[in-house]
Order: sequence, then C-alpha cells, then structure tokens
Amino acid sequence: SADLRRDLQIVDATISPDGFTRPAVLAGGTFPGPVLKANKGDHIQINVVNKLNNPDMLQSTSIHWHGFFQRNTQWADGPAFITQCPIATNHSFLYDFYAHDQAGTFWYHSHLHTQYCDGLRGAFVVYDPFDPYKHLYDIDDDSTVITLADWYHILARQETGIPASDATLINGLGRYTGGPASPLSVVNVQHGKRYRFRLVSISCDPNFTFSIDGHKLTVIESDGISVQPYQVDSIQIFAAQRYSFVLNANQPVNNYWIRALPNIGPVGFDGGVNSAILRYAGAPVADPTTTQVNGTLLLETGLHPLVAPGAPGKPVQGGADVPLNLALTFNFTTFKFQINGVTFEPPSVPVLLQVLSGKQDARDLLPAGSVYTLPRNKVVELTLPGGVIGGGHPFHLHGHAFDVVRSAGSSTYNYINPARRDVVNIGGAGDNVTIRFRTDNPGPWFFHCHIDWHLEAGFAIVFAEDTPDFQHAPHPPQWDQLCPIYDALSPDQQ
Ligand code: C2O
Repeated sequence: SADLRRDLQIVDATISPDGFTRPAVLAGGTFPGPVLKANKGDHIQINVVNKLNNPDMLQSTSIHWHGFFQRNTQWADGPAFITQCPIATNHSFLYDFYAHDQAGTFWYHSHLHTQYCDGLRGAFVVYDPFDPYKHLYDIDDDSTVITLADWYHILARQETGIPASDATLINGLGRYTGGPASPLSVVNVQHGKRYRFRLVSISCDPNFTFSIDGHKLTVIESDGISVQPYQVDSIQIFAAQRYSFVLNANQPVNNYWIRALPNIGPVGFDGGVNSAILRYAGAPVADPTTTQVNGTLLLETGLHPLVAPGAPGKPVQGGADVPLNLALTFNFTTFKFQINGVTFEPPSVPVLLQVLSGKQDARDLLPAGSVYTLPRNKVVELTLPGGVIGGGHPFHLHGHAFDVVRSAGSSTYNYINPARRDVVNIGGAGDNVTIRFRTDNPGPWFFHCHIDWHLEAGFAIVFAEDTPDFQHAPHPPQWDQLCPIYDALSPDQQ
C-alpha cells in the first residue's frame, strides 16, 4: 500500500478570496487546494475524482504534479493530450507515482487549457527526514508554506488577449484596488525561532518580487534542489518556481508586511494590496506599519546545488551531444506563439499513446512539427533566445530538472555549479538562456512557457525522450483507462 494515499475531489464552488465573489474550480473545495505532504522516497497514490458540473466552465480536468520526475510512471504526469485524455466529469483517475530521490517544494495544478487560473492549484511538499544538510540551516520549524497567486474577476475561458489579474492572493487571501478591506493571510512566528518557509508561485502569469519587511531571507532550495545558503532581501519568483528560505525571527515582536509585487496586475501596496502579514506571538492583532527596505535581490547565478553540482557534457559552449537552438516567435496575425515556426495545438490522441501504439519517429508523431525525439543517455543543450513579447517567459520542462549554464541577465557560462531547477526565466533582448540535461528518463515530456495564457496560445513543444523504452514502464494503465469515454463526449462537455 502507498505511503500517501488519498482522494482529491475536484469541485465547483463560489468563493470571495479578495472580497469579490466568483465561481471557481477547486481541489478539495479550497483555494489554494490542500497542501499535499509526503516524504522522500514515498509511494504516492492520489485518486482524482472529478465532480465538476458548472456549464459555464470546463467540466473535464487533468492534474500535473509539478516537479516530480515520474521515472517509470510517465503516464501519471498529468498534462492532457500528452500523457492522458482529460478526466471526464463523474469519472476518476488514480495517479500512482513515487517521490524517488526527490525532496523539496513542489505543487500541483490542472493541466487542461487554462483551468488552473480558475483555482485548481495547490502546494505539494516532500520532506526529507534524513536531510544530510540540516546542520547548514538549523531550523526549528518547517510547517509554513506561502503560495503566491494571481486572481481574476473574469473566468479564464472568457478572458481575451493577455489578461491582467485583479488581485494577488497570498495563501489564498488578498485585496483588490478599490475593494473592501478583506482579511489578509497571517503567518505566525515566535521570537527567537528559525523557520523554513516554502515559497511557491502558483501563478498563471505574473512574476512576483517577494520580501518581508525587516527580515533577511536565506535561500536553501530552488525547485526541489537544495542549494548553498544564499542570503538576500528579496526574490523575484516566476510562475511555477519555488524557493525555500530560512527566516530568523530575530526582530522586535511586531507585525511586518509580507510583500509580493506582480510585474503585471495590481500596482503597489496601498491598503494591503499585494500583501500579507508576518505576526510575532505577542504582537497586537493589527495591520503592520513597517516600511520596505530595498536590498539585495536574488540572482539565479548565485544558486549552487549542494548535491552533484555541475552540468553534464563538456564545459564549453555547444559541448553537448544534442545542441538545440529554439527560435521563439509571436505571430501577430494568429495571436499565437511559435517554437521553430510551429504553434502547438493539442493532438486528439495523447503523445504517450501514439508512441505506445508504435510510432517512434518525430515525423509520425502529432502534433506535426511540435514533437522532438531525443535519444537515450545523451546530453541535450537547449538555447532559448530572450526578448519575445510578453516576457520574461518562464519555461518549464517536465520529467527533469536542468542545469542553467547561462542565466537571463548574464553573458557568461557556468558549467561547474550552475543553478539547477525546472522552470527558468528566459529573459529579455540580448539574453540567450542555455540549459542542459541528460536523457535518462524515458517519456513524452512537455516543454512550455508556464504563463498559462501563453501555453494556451501554443508556446510549447514535446520531447519524446527515448521512445524505444516507453513500453518498459512497469504496470502502465491500459489505453481505456488513460482515454476512457472522453472521445464520446461532445466538445461542450469536454
Ligand atoms: Cu506546472 Cu506543464 O506544468
């Protein structure tokens, strides 16, 4: 039996997290969904039960467990039309996978159209009871998760163009400009204790500049990778990225503003907009009156993995087996994004099932021009030019963490101890973000911009990695479990 075994009900609800009431799609009936917790090495079984029936919204769903490598369980990865068909309403699907060799901060979200913008998103923490590095950060408490979300007053499928959010929700609460003084989320601490805070961007679009008045943040993890402790004053966190930092509650007993300023959406901090409260035990129950001191901003080039640092391949530009330069463009006629000239359109048969039914050549795999096959056990180097409209675009690779040998804002290469993560900002004009990974995990891995509006506008490709080894996954579900009755539904019900 599994170490973590639970049902996760996907339900319709009407909520007012910022004082404005709207319908939402929720995991477990809350926004964000429940924090899922497991330990390193655990066997995880999550039975997703789809109870959606609001005719104004999507009624199917599919859940991705963001950051889990899904080694040998590629079919449990979750992106609709890549590894499975959507789960129809009144149906369920059992995601059965492992936290093999992984610990840190993850999350989960709908991976069907822009459904997660309507609420289906939550944090997922994997603890390491035997963390060999705990002496480096000496914490008293590791129970706090801080999620940052953009929130919209319009339903996702009714949005047109590139929408701007109405509110920033920190742990599911916030205020909008001109709105009521709705409750803000409160993070409680005790003077003299050291805390590991897990900061999770569950954003559909904006990046946030995050800080806590009067406190330093000592970063110890990025995207599930433990890093050398790195002290900063603020963190710019892009959609889908995660950090852990140590907060030393060594300031006078008081209330302090926690701030998350989005790059698009509500401006400033007036009246508690873009804010939450850090409250010391013994402080009055009141809004803070603290001010922000601008200091050091986290740089990606300052993130150094503790375990097995160093990029695979030769320590020179192009020193990989498979160099791939991706051309990234926006087409102002179709209003879609393109990678190497092709806009991603979801295929009707998931890529996984196409491969399992015998197609192994990129030329035979759909969607045409968006699937790239990769040979096994090679080093891949991807180069991503910045400066595409609507950026910085945070690109996410499923199935892997990768080494960022050249970061946005940097013109130098680091092969010795570069940041390792699963979402990277590709930056602006003049940037040429370069990442490397080894093809040691067979599967159809989505690679896409994690701004959900951009994914919906086709900013994605699929790496079909080591297709001959797809069928060796132990106990894959049968085709009719991955794609049961979906095809029989009318597009409205989908
Ligand atoms: Cu967090 Cu393909 O996604």
